[in-house]
Amino acid sequence: MTIRDEAFALLAANRRTTDGHTYTVPSPDAYPYQWFWDSCFHAIVLAKSEPEAAMSELRALVSRQLPDGMIPHIIYWVPGDLHRYKWGTDGTSALTQPPMLAYAAWEIYKETSDDAFLAELYPALMRYYEYLISKRDPRDHHLVGIINPDESGEDNSPRFDSVLHVPDDISLADHLARRLELVDANRACNFDAELCMNRHFWVKDVPFNAILVENLRTLEHMASFLGKEDDEHFCKLNIDLVSAAMREHLFADGAYWSAVAMTEYEPLRVATWAHFVPLFADLYTPEEARTLVDNELLNEETFWGPHGIRTVSRKEKSYRPDGYWRGSVWMAPHWFIYKGLMRYGFSEEARLVRERSVALIERGGFREYFDPETGEGYGAHNFTWGALVADMT
Ligand code: GLC
Repeated sequence: MTIRDEAFALLAANRRTTDGHTYTVPSPDAYPYQWFWDSCFHAIVLAKSEPEAAMSELRALVSRQLPDGMIPHIIYWVPGDLHRYKWGTDGTSALTQPPMLAYAAWEIYKETSDDAFLAELYPALMRYYEYLISKRDPRDHHLVGIINPDESGEDNSPRFDSVLHVPDDISLADHLARRLELVDANRACNFDAELCMNRHFWVKDVPFNAILVENLRTLEHMASFLGKEDDEHFCKLNIDLVSAAMREHLFADGAYWSAVAMTEYEPLRVATWAHFVPLFADLYTPEEARTLVDNELLNEETFWGPHGIRTVSRKEKSYRPDGYWRGSVWMAPHWFIYKGLMRYGFSEEARLVRERSVALIERGGFREYFDPETGEGYGAHNFTWGALVADMT
């Protein structure tokens, strides 16, 4: 079996149907629910081979959209599950994740030209991006805020240590407890990110905002295609505003850095793979991109590990090659970086990222994360993110 076949077999094996909704669990043992950006990844991969399954995945995801437009990062689906309240309300979390939804829907449309599907999903998509632009940027700074590290999709990243007031050698359990305290605060705030949660944790994260820009571009195509001129204008305007604000507030020394935004912007100067996500959204000039790739991405002292790209620079005090989001290699970051490199025409470097991704999976299987120094696989088994290699084309 080729790795592509294995990837599709894994996605099929992890597919579940509950209450008439069909979706894919990231890992049957470790993550037996539906997750937001994971579902987007699944849909992106499935778009080419099983578009019906890709469509179901996104339909299931938007089916639990909250009244304010937010789409939760976990949908439990299983009634009576012990964790149903852990991350928010009954049955869904009260957080979101990097907004890859419009991109995923557009990938499906590109393959199928299914106008009816686009028209069906579009209102939920529009409401979700409007929610982000209005409720997550209440003071019109043109950068959306996240209210918990889990909303970055990189739960334990040391990017957030100083905001959480935790040491770099914090245990997984203590870190989780800290993030769950934020969920309690959110609950006490009556799930009001706009006016209340932004006093507890309010980070203008680089990947989230870069992903937003790229997704607004695909949403703009959809709006134009469906003849929704006001929406098209909304997208255009916000693409420009968010890109400009990222430049103004998050760019320093040749790279983008996340910032905590309580009273004013305070840069979070921890070097992580977040530097590379703006490549995916075309937010560096070609010269800046070349310098960043040469000096950081391909630099063995910082990000370029013998087996893959470190999610945290090896020079950081918090770097742990076997640590959960503290330096280990993850396949979604590899995919974003692959796409970013291709966008700038760095196809040779992109080929190396693909080769390393394939080698890690061939050696260790579809594991959750990998050691950049030894290649050893860790965490969840039968974890779907490895299927993204099928979309490194
Ligand atoms: C972990 C990851 C997160 C992912 C989830 C389900 O929490 O950090 O990004 O969505 O697992 O796979």
